[in-house]
Amino acid sequence: MRIIRTQNTKELSARAADMILAQVILKPDSVLGLATGGSPVGTYEKIVESYQRGEVDFSQVTSINPDEEEACAQYDRIIAQAGTIDLQLLGIGLDGHIGFNEPGDYFECNTHCVNLTESTIEANRRFFNSREEVPRQAYTMGIRPILQAKRVLMIASGKNKAEILHKAFIGPVTPQIPASILQLHPDFTLIADAEALSEL
Ligand code: F6R
Repeated sequence: MRIIRTQNTKELSARAADMILAQVILKPDSVLGLATGGSPVGTYEKIVESYQRGEVDFSQVTSINPDEEEACAQYDRIIAQAGTIDLQLLGIGLDGHIGFNEPGDYFECNTHCVNLTESTIEANRRFFNSREEVPRQAYTMGIRPILQAKRVLMIASGKNKAEILHKAFIGPVTPQIPASILQLHPDFTLIADAEALSEL
């Protein structure tokens, strides 16, 4: 596991975008797994800027996103057809979820429907007008394609991520903290700001 410490979210976004852009430039037909949530927004903005400057071409890229709801029924087949994910970008939930693999008794390998935890529902509240509108369930790719990705890049910023980063990467590997399984990944990089790393 590699940890890259940045001073702030702006630098974090630039560093993560550089890694993704380098991946696509080196392998134009890359398969990318792209997270949703708030953490990657700055990274995606940087990537769009680079694209608009004509520095990178995404025409051959495939994107396999962790919570592509409409395609869920066929999703494992779609993932298999795309081949191994070259670079999987992840955020981390306050309860340690990756994709929407919530804490549980075991690691679920395949695409599945989850009941989101109260913590996740509350965290997602900011994307909706009212709490009632926040989805209670989600479809998520399983742990298998995430672990099989050639490279995994996680980004995290802010003090509220400090405790879970400590639990996930200093504590034991356990399905109660799904992100902890990334300790076993051979090419895992965490880019985080000083606040998020303050307990690591
Ligand atoms: C996966 C996904 C979630 C978020 C996680 C953190 O696509 O969206 O796993 O990465 O909930 O969310 P933010 O980045 O909003 O703190």
